[in-house]
Amino acid sequence: MPGEEIFEKGRFEPPSEFKEKAIVKSESIYEEAERDLEGFWAKAADELHWFKKWDRVLERNHPFYRWFVGGKINASYNCLDRHLDTWRKNKAAIIWEGEPGDSKTYTYQQLHHEVSKFANVLKSLGVKKGDRVTIYLPMIPELPIAMLACARIGAIHSVVFGGFSAQALQDRINDAEAKVLITADGGYRRGKIVPLKKNSDEALENAPSIEHVVVVKRTGEDVPMKEGRDLWWHDLMKNASHVCEAEPMDSTDPLFILYTSGTTGKPKGVVHLTGGYIVGTYLTSKYVFDLKDEDIYWCTADIGWITGHSYIVYGPLANGATVVMYEGAPDYPQYDRFWEIVEKYGVTILYTAPTAIRAFIKWGEEWPKKHDLSSLRLLGTVGEPINPDVWLWYYRVIGNEKCPIVDTWWQTETGMILITPLPGISVLKPGSAYRPFPGIKAEVVDDDGNPVPRGQAGNLVIKSPWPAMLGTLYKDPERYKRQYWSQVEGAYFTGDGARIDEDGYFWLLGRIDDVINVSGHRLGTMEVESALVSHEAVAEAAVVGIPHEIKGQGIAAYVVLKEEFKPSDDLTKDLKMHVRKVIGPIATPDEIHYVDKLPKTRSGKIMRRIMRAIKTGKDIGDVSTLEEEAAIKEVREK
Ligand code: WTA
Repeated sequence: MPGEEIFEKGRFEPPSEFKEKAIVKSESIYEEAERDLEGFWAKAADELHWFKKWDRVLERNHPFYRWFVGGKINASYNCLDRHLDTWRKNKAAIIWEGEPGDSKTYTYQQLHHEVSKFANVLKSLGVKKGDRVTIYLPMIPELPIAMLACARIGAIHSVVFGGFSAQALQDRINDAEAKVLITADGGYRRGKIVPLKKNSDEALENAPSIEHVVVVKRTGEDVPMKEGRDLWWHDLMKNASHVCEAEPMDSTDPLFILYTSGTTGKPKGVVHLTGGYIVGTYLTSKYVFDLKDEDIYWCTADIGWITGHSYIVYGPLANGATVVMYEGAPDYPQYDRFWEIVEKYGVTILYTAPTAIRAFIKWGEEWPKKHDLSSLRLLGTVGEPINPDVWLWYYRVIGNEKCPIVDTWWQTETGMILITPLPGISVLKPGSAYRPFPGIKAEVVDDDGNPVPRGQAGNLVIKSPWPAMLGTLYKDPERYKRQYWSQVEGAYFTGDGARIDEDGYFWLLGRIDDVINVSGHRLGTMEVESALVSHEAVAEAAVVGIPHEIKGQGIAAYVVLKEEFKPSDDLTKDLKMHVRKVIGPIATPDEIHYVDKLPKTRSGKIMRRIMRAIKTGKDIGDVSTLEEEAAIKEVREK
């Protein structure tokens, strides 16, 4: 398991000024939630708007837990309409910054207007409650507008990250059987144009469920428009009415599907349900980020991932917050783009990923030092364990030793932050994600499900339901049960390793399954292997995560070629390109090694554990199930 050691590098109290003004000021909140879990969440739900109040807070039909059963609610209404009869009507909801330097601000009123119009556009294209809409857009305002428009009419959105390939997009459209695809002519990334429309056209060569494609003009590139199928966003919006009542949804109706990698080649469609999800993201946004009306909050994730869904769109907007949204890369046009944005808008809360911070460290302190970052009052991280030294750099250089750091642990499946400090009360230890959020019961157990002694590593499991938990896997409830609820009786299995220290602090140790975390993005080893094997030269492939200075983990691939092919630099290049094409640039292997055979068990399972151990210089452990010793020798020599 990675991160064997706990490095204690001091303790950090919240600054007294922060403490005094914090939303959560007292430890008693933990007790309150423990005493009455349902009451705790019902109180949070009461702060939102319901068309009809729930009959029961929680239905425990294990493992299909259902929240606020009988309640009628709309997520889009809670993010928009709820604020319109308050002073927030004219408050900035989204401050958007494009990569080329253009910018745009939407007040709550304006955002509501655009969302309602687009909701009517969707209706005019025949989209109804329960239909799926795939969204493949860059980080432009039309992305949250499209999501909130779907939510408004009860259509289920499936956002596909703009960095994914045509093939990945096609698989996701087909699994969801989406009726409409929303894309753009292109998007900007590091000054270059990402050809989203071209990828979409390729994907649609074999995606029969799609009836219409709505295309946002972002780059102005000349793109082919297919007669009858493709329509311009701006043409459709021109005459759309801005009156569109929000559909009262059952609390347990799906809000969206988001595909994520698992241990098999096929991505899982994680389904989130309306009421629980909005309540969970609402309250965690408020408490974890100490979100106040004066804040300028910036989460740097892409909305194509869960972090963007929960903590750019639904959570913050349900709180009536002002959200900064940035389209492009952190190093474009220079290494100080993030700090320029913080200074320009006076960002007060910054939520980013360890991989980004490691890149900032590499680029040097001089870049943040060029800017006035004094507006910042709270920092956050998510996506992977943060190394204590990286934490300390973030604290010192970006936070000027006055901003608490919330290291938040959660997953696509959990929908909301589950393990985290509360910034006004928690004493922080760099590298630890602190404790479970109030009302969350997390434990570290051995393979038989017994709690391990303090200080020992084991499997992280969650032992109580929480509102934003996934409802199921799309069209695959059996896989949902098997994947998350079959390892440890009665508990949700996270797939992460962790240990709890003598003070009760949680230290996350990375994935324990065949999932690699590249720059905070989850990739299944099987997905990358399948991509390699789909190349004509490859007979077999095994992929393992290897330590990487910036990305956290990189990818090493061991490849067995078909007889008629020989290893060469050109083939290596070609294989890397092939993986990029099949999955996307994030999945590009860092290393490709050619071997004659892979280490396997007698039953034919690839022993990635062995390759991982050899790669990281660790003991290879028990090899009694290995079929052929020679395979190890070969891997060692590469
Ligand atoms: C990892 C991202 C350590 C973990 C929200 C988890 C973390 C996976 C942290 C989920 C953290 C996320 N410390 N590890 N603070 N946050 N992870 O679904 O391995 O993209 O299982 O959700 O990221 O990744 P996902």
